[in-house]
Amino acid sequence: MALLAVNNLSVQFQTNDGVVNAVNDLSFSIEPGRTAAIVGESGSGKSQTAFAILGLLAQNGSASGSVSFGGNEILNAPEAQLNRLRAAQMAIIFQDPMTSLNPYMRIGDQMSEVLVHHSALSKAEALRQAIAMLDAVEIPDAKSRAHLFPHEFSGGMRQRVMIAMSLLCKPKLLIADEPTTALDVTVQAQIMALFKSLQKELGMAVILITHDLGVVAGFCQDVLVLYGGRMMERGPVDPIFETPSHPYTRGLLKAIPRLDGKAGKLDAIPGNPPNMMYAPKGCPFAPRCAHAIAACTDHLKPLHEFAPQRWRACNLTREELA
Ligand SMILES: Nc1ncnc2c1ncn2[C@@H]1O[C@H](COP(=O)(O)OP(=O)(O)OP(=O)(O)O)[C@@H](O)[C@H]1O
Ligand SMILES: [Mg+2]
Repeated sequence: MALLAVNNLSVQFQTNDGVVNAVNDLSFSIEPGRTAAIVGESGSGKSQTAFAILGLLAQNGSASGSVSFGGNEILNAPEAQLNRLRAAQMAIIFQDPMTSLNPYMRIGDQMSEVLVHHSALSKAEALRQAIAMLDAVEIPDAKSRAHLFPHEFSGGMRQRVMIAMSLLCKPKLLIADEPTTALDVTVQAQIMALFKSLQKELGMAVILITHDLGVVAGFCQDVLVLYGGRMMERGPVDPIFETPSHPYTRGLLKAIPRLDGKAGKLDAIPGNPPNMMYAPKGCPFAPRCAHAIAACTDHLKPLHEFAPQRWRACNLTREELA
């Protein structure tokens, strides 16, 4: 059985200017031990999908559809139930580590507080486990650094602290929202490697939100491609990278900077992402799609499975795209 099954998830925000349709009719699932990437341009609905799953939407947001975790419906579940699940069974690493660390509390205290809250451990034992986890994410001299405040850590070290904190309760599902974006490439690679080994050890499922398709290729098994709050394509990473079935996925893959001499030429997709306030009735990507036909501005073909485990939402046949 899938650990997490998301069905027809939609997220809306009420604003003074109107309703923002941030996520539309998203469906996917993830098995224990697997890693799925969510990719897509800025504003495509990646973070709000994660927040809806965890019940962390902003005040003006609401979610509909279904999110089943371990067989239980958790979308819009009571706060008490969500609180028990969060951290203990599902954890998130936020896009910006400083927003989720308390600047006035020593790292060791913040971490052990989480553990004491979610288990019956004593304070001393919780601190011991927190230090062990800081050690596991390779924070040098973890025992004495546990007494430091967040600002006393470098950006890379702070990110490791966040990772340690999210893994502390050994969650079944970890959602990592751009966990390494703010870091330089070497630290990024170190953290991803560390991540992989910890994942193997704990057997948890990971949803990785990222702009970095290199990280997707190296670290993930499945990929979900979002555009304008809709799923354009999803399936296993290797076949999608080899033969993307959606023009948007193709565009994304072409936008990766090349290392083969033509370096530095970033072939970005021309045009701008859609305004989510006026969701088009057709495919949101149609205005930027080089292959669009009249039908595309008129209706969006629903996501459908065209080969085992490969799903796409495009009016054109794959032959037409080739
Ligand atoms: N509280 C809010 N009120 C209104 N609109 C919101 C709110 N929060 C998010 N949005 C809108 O929802 C859409 C999706 O946002 P989301 O944060 O999921 O993007 P993202 O894919 O994570 O982008 P990025 O890569 O920049 O992090 C955006 O258009 C955003 O402006
Ligand atoms: Mg985001």
